Amino acid sequence: MDPLVHRLGFVALNVKNLDAAIADARDVMGLSLVGQGNGRALLTSNDRHAELIFYQAEASELHTIGLEALTPAHVGEVARRARAEGLEVVSETPSLPAMEHGVTIRFSENHLVEVHTPMLRDRPSRYSGPGIHPRYIDHANLTARDPASASEEMMRVLGLKLSERTAGWELSWMRAGDGRHHTLAFVKSDAAGIHHYSWEFADFNDFKRLGDVLDTFDRKLVWGPGRHGAGDNLFVYYVDAAGFLVECTAEMERIADPEFQARVVDPGENLSNYKVVNRWGQLPSQEWIGHFIPCMGRPGH
Ligand SMILES: [Fe+2]
Repeated sequence: MDPLVHRLGFVALNVKNLDAAIADARDVMGLSLVGQGNGRALLTSNDRHAELIFYQAEASELHTIGLEALTPAHVGEVARRARAEGLEVVSETPSLPAMEHGVTIRFSENHLVEVHTPMLRDRPSRYSGPGIHPRYIDHANLTARDPASASEEMMRVLGLKLSERTAGWELSWMRAGDGRHHTLAFVKSDAAGIHHYSWEFADFNDFKRLGDVLDTFDRKLVWGPGRHGAGDNLFVYYVDAAGFLVECTAEMERIADPEFQARVVDPGENLSNYKVVNRWGQLPSQEWIGHFIPCMGRPGH
């Protein structure tokens, strides 16, 4: 069966200083502020109503990953499969009026995923202002204590397809209906959360501009630019004002073949196999390898 989800819908994050997070997203990434109120801010980079959502909170945490399904029937099927797996269906009301249908599921390691019908396209495609202005939000790389089980559970419930993994499932990359090499990925960690999320850039020149923009704020890149072996995408990473690791990417591999056999790769000890990790040679810093922001606390736990 085709994947039940088509693409990444949004990333929702808890932040301690909402105004600082908004200012950072506008000044560095160049996002457009759609609206702010009741401790929540919606930002986007294109005509979609929201791609990045900040919630005022006590600490930086992963709130919810939104995944866009093409039809209400797909949303319903995800809810049915979640219940069949014994997972908690947290809500069947969409989190934003800009989505007609949505179901939020708590996966076994506590990741919240909202599968929703396409986000309303009611914003201008282009807008003025500082920062880079990416094309769209692209993928999220989550952390899990047991990434093999977490990956397989999401593939069963969401219909994601495995594109690539390491032999021991320390890293796995899964694609959605749009065929991009990965929309969700998992990396092994001591706790469930998010390692990074990413924006799609239009041009490699934007990578240079990002370095220069960060420099004007006396900040720096964490890793890159380079080209990942897994996914073949260009990358660069920085840490935002709330402490989240943000990847900027371009040129990701697309996989159209529904029978594609997932690759099994060896990343080497401490991600030392540059052919998988960064084909241009520079290996990740400890800051990058160890980065982690936990999932939002579970009420009553
Ligand atoms: Fe990534």
